[in-house]
Amino acid sequence: MSDKKIIIAIDGFSSTGKSTVAKQLAKTLGYIYVDTGAMYRSVTLYAMRNKIIDQTHFDVDRLINSLPDIHIKFEVNQTTRLAEVLLNEENVEKEIRNLSVSRHVSQVAAISEVRKKLVEQQQLMGRDKGVVMDGRDIGTVVFPDAELKLFMTATAKDRAERRYKELIKRGDQVTYEDVLKNVVNRDHIDSTRKDSPLKKAEGAIEIDNSNLTLEDQFNQILTLSRSTINRY
Ligand code: DC
Repeated sequence: MSDKKIIIAIDGFSSTGKSTVAKQLAKTLGYIYVDTGAMYRSVTLYAMRNKIIDQTHFDVDRLINSLPDIHIKFEVNQTTRLAEVLLNEENVEKEIRNLSVSRHVSQVAAISEVRKKLVEQQQLMGRDKGVVMDGRDIGTVVFPDAELKLFMTATAKDRAERRYKELIKRGDQVTYEDVLKNVVNRDHIDSTRKDSPLKKAEGAIEIDNSNLTLEDQFNQILTLSRSTINRY
């Protein structure tokens, strides 16, 4: 097998299981995994903590002016061997997954200045290839020349069910209806925003996983990845 490293870009709607498959893939291939959603979530958490955004208002200019004070990086958890996100040196991996952050993140991710800062950082992280990166604009904007691009979809109902189970399992008090509403609302904002809307990239392979088991999906994607690596 070729030891040439490639970039694997995984985009798709929220809660399509992108991160689960991306993590597993990176581990199997010995690649770095970058969860770009965690970066947008961390900026959102900063904005919430500093009262820049709440239910009723969003001070976009203040967020843009605060960007130089927002530092995001990843560190590997030595027990799980998985990368976790740090916001100004604080591990916020768990907090950024709360439904309250999910409620505001699409508004924050629609701001061009936020995107510009995070995209530059993502491009640096993928500079040496050997990366599996998931998000909404990886195959369209961050790495339009990625050797393998995947676009993941599933019905909103299936995705909300998965996310609901995840949140309940970690002890969050949420209803299925709230989670479904959030999934549908985020899909709408993410795919209709002006800057880098979520869409299938040119050359991306679409994977609808509504009826696929996690194992089938992983095997399908691993086969695709290995054959792409062999071609380079
Ligand atoms: O993948 P996720 O659900 O953690 O992403 C959270 C939000 O961040 C999502 O609603 C849209 C935004 N996002 C984005 O705009 N671009 C990315 N590359 C990744 C996420």
